[in-house]
Amino acid sequence: TVTKHISVTVNGALRQAEVEPRLLLAHFLRDVLDLTGTHIGCDTSQCGACTVMVNGEAVKSCTMLAVQADGAAVTTVEGLGQMDAMHPIQQGFWEKHGLQCGFCTPGVMMAMVGLLKENPDPSEEEIRDGLEGVICRCTGYQFIVSAVQHAAKLIREAEETKQAM
Ligand code: FES
Repeated sequence: TVTKHISVTVNGALRQAEVEPRLLLAHFLRDVLDLTGTHIGCDTSQCGACTVMVNGEAVKSCTMLAVQADGAAVTTVEGLGQMDAMHPIQQGFWEKHGLQCGFCTPGVMMAMVGLLKENPDPSEEEIRDGLEGVICRCTGYQFIVSAVQHAAKLIREAEETKQAM
């Protein structure tokens, strides 16, 4: 098989690999880099569980080939934060119980990181619109909306503190 050499910055670290041209970014992250926080929930590019950030934009990693990410900067859920230093979106989901089974959560969080970058103060409707590309089967979305609103507030407060300093 023909393979291609790719270099991708993943969660801040340069990763290089020889990959088959047909390898999906989702599989590259999970199977080659062992970053299994990116989930695969469908084979029709509908569920959004595989969402990651590519060059600052939320992308369904099952709709992109690994070779297309050559030279790009990718952030997966593993790159957001840790238990002792959570990203505001993780803090939001933690405090507002934004998940039940948790399968969709990594993808939902990455999609919402993308939304909050573009719109730091989204209305409930804007959050629900932003959630259209990600499917959650258990929460009924209300707790996810509260979690995102809470995260947005945390991010805005952190910005205000930074500006005041
Ligand atoms: Fe990518 Fe479902 S696994 S959208």
